[in-house]
Amino acid sequence: MTRRSLLSLAASVGAGLVLRRPSLAFQSGPRIVQADLEAKAGWIPLAGRQAYRYGYNNHVPRPLIEARPGDTIRIRFTNSLPEETNLHFHGLHVSPTGNADNSFVMVAPGEQFQYELPLAANHPGGTFWIHPHMHGAVARQVWRGLAAPVIVRAELDAIPEVKAAAEVVLVLQDVTLGTDGVPLEPGFMEQMAGREGSVITAAGNVNPTIPIQKDGWVRLRLINASCSRFYRLQLEEHELYQIASDGGSLPAPVGLDELLLLPGQRADLMIQGSRAPGAYRLLNLPYNRGTSGMGMGMMGGMGMRVGSSSSASSTIATFAYSGQANRVVPLPQKLISVEPLPPPARVRSFMLGQSMGSGMMGGGMGFGINGRTFDPARVDTRVRLGDVEDWDFVNPMAMDHPMHIHTNPFQIIQSDGSAEQVWRDVVLVRAGERVRVRMAFQDFIGKLMYHCHILDHEDLGMMGVLEISDEA
Ligand code: C2O
Ligand code: CU
Ligand code: CU
Repeated sequence: MTRRSLLSLAASVGAGLVLRRPSLAFQSGPRIVQADLEAKAGWIPLAGRQAYRYGYNNHVPRPLIEARPGDTIRIRFTNSLPEETNLHFHGLHVSPTGNADNSFVMVAPGEQFQYELPLAANHPGGTFWIHPHMHGAVARQVWRGLAAPVIVRAELDAIPEVKAAAEVVLVLQDVTLGTDGVPLEPGFMEQMAGREGSVITAAGNVNPTIPIQKDGWVRLRLINASCSRFYRLQLEEHELYQIASDGGSLPAPVGLDELLLLPGQRADLMIQGSRAPGAYRLLNLPYNRGTSGMGMGMMGGMGMRVGSSSSASSTIATFAYSGQANRVVPLPQKLISVEPLPPPARVRSFMLGQSMGSGMMGGGMGFGINGRTFDPARVDTRVRLGDVEDWDFVNPMAMDHPMHIHTNPFQIIQSDGSAEQVWRDVVLVRAGERVRVRMAFQDFIGKLMYHCHILDHEDLGMMGVLEISDEA
């Protein structure tokens, strides 16, 4: 029944940028999507010079892995880095245990690990991604380049107007290179702030050109794979229509002037070539993430301002008109509906803050949740399989934290008490604010993590362990 086939990794993103979709239409039944991934260090061209980077199969950020609901993703992973690493499958609703999306696995240098992730037949379609989850080294390894997109193609992709669009996957990364081409490691204050790079790349390139046809549509699949940077994206003279978020389709397209994309987040945007032919810049506008340092918000932060500190925008990519669409397709009115979750069995509260670490900092200052820094040997939160819960993230600090939960997506509870009709796995908890999310612990038991997706904060200990069990 299970048909095995070797899906060659799409090497089509890159120079051409536009993704040519493998025609899967003739294939039916679940398949094995097989890939070899080797994490490796090497020198690659970046911003006109040679840069020392970590990549999978010598690519930054690639390869692209594409599957459909019901498929099994099987990855033979080889660690050829000079340090331990592992793979996390950000956003996939798969088991967090064994050789699936198990972030407790550590693969030593020179070792191999076979990952196997069966996707349920009802797994949502969406844009997901792979990155390392080696505690204490996540920020450095991602900064050096490790990230790869994962696409699950499902109902949204079958909507004719969506299908007709030219698809472009843009993984956004940033890094600061030393004069020798080796990425610079931040000092402790900068780690507390969350490192941001001086060079921004989209699909591995500085300001790549994205072709768009006059009257045609481009579907941008955006992934923020930067350690800390928040992107505020705007396309000159063009409206953005968001059709999907972290966890897949929105119920209907949402028109936006600008999109805020947090670390770890994904968004699919539809863009129409509706202006006079020419070149238009995809801009990143400045964002102020707050103030880091010793002071808590209520005491008045006295540290450094974090986030883009200049008022200048930078250019992420350039849309260049080329050709004319042979037919004009409207935007679909409806996409895939998002069902609200039932009321929660309980509400929990998670206080974000600085704490005296017992962990990696050797008793020094760390970041924590509910007063504790991350300890992989401790379970911080126990829940029951099948339950629905509301989680409140409380942020008394003077800086923003994008909080992320593995395995199960959530919906944000809005101020009127209703759930946002969007599946997410990263939520912005602004300085001084409290945010509530609702999720159902479905299908999988085991231990998994929740953490701030400013990767320096995660490494500093702002992470907890959740155990989902089926015991009464
Ligand atoms: Cu994308 Cu636990 O992270
Ligand atoms: Cu994740
Ligand atoms: Cu944080």
